[in-house]
Amino acid sequence: MKWPKVIAHRGGRRWAPENTLIAFSKSIELGCDGIELDVQRCASGELVVIHDHELSRTTNGVGLVKDATLPELKRLSAGAWYDKAFTAERIPTLEEVLALVSGKLVINIEIKNAPVEYEGIEDDLLSALAEYEFCDRLIISSFDHQFMRRLHKLRTGLKLAVLADAILIDLKEYAQKLGATCWHPCYGSLTATAIDDAHAAGLEVNAWTLNEQRDWVEAAKNGLDAIITDDPVKLKELIERADRVAAGS
Ligand code: G3P
Ligand code: MG
Repeated sequence: MKWPKVIAHRGGRRWAPENTLIAFSKSIELGCDGIELDVQRCASGELVVIHDHELSRTTNGVGLVKDATLPELKRLSAGAWYDKAFTAERIPTLEEVLALVSGKLVINIEIKNAPVEYEGIEDDLLSALAEYEFCDRLIISSFDHQFMRRLHKLRTGLKLAVLADAILIDLKEYAQKLGATCWHPCYGSLTATAIDDAHAAGLEVNAWTLNEQRDWVEAAKNGLDAIITDDPVKLKELIERADRVAAGS
């Protein structure tokens, strides 16, 4: 059986606070194939890596990301909420993550553009990527498909994904409209038939967020291309165990 690639969701959430440099470093050390991360824009214009548009769940700040400047955000802890051992963690900028990863693994950059709408965020993304030498190791996705279409029209050559929480009709044509070569469905809204149909349409299927062994095994049997998981440690262990059994050792 061919195992799907392992992508650490928000850098993996069961071993470190989500969307932090320590989480991404651990993903690199473990040998994950990729990381997924979420991007918002702060008041001084930088793209920052944080899931929510609000600060209160994953930092010791309050208010909206869009209303705080980068120096203000950098004063917050992005790890104390998770465990005091991670108090020193800060909200990373996208560029800091790019510098850390430096092509060592694939980065799925998910642009959050709702409920807060960051006008022109496609231009900010391209500026942040301008110096990155490993753009062929990026996948860009967003639930905001109007953003995706604007990005597609800029003809960047970046690999794009249809991020959607549904089994879509006319997926091939829909993906073509967005210039996407990947489909990123929610695993709970996915079937084996839909995976086959997407493959027949020439799309790579990378699903989120699978955290249970039975789902990992089922997904592998159904030919999923990548598993986006909060628990890359356990998934990698499972794959290594299965490979050892297959090799007869
Ligand atoms: O990009 C896949 C997944 O992360 C989408 O949902 O809410 O975890 O960002 P969310
Ligand atoms: Mg995400």
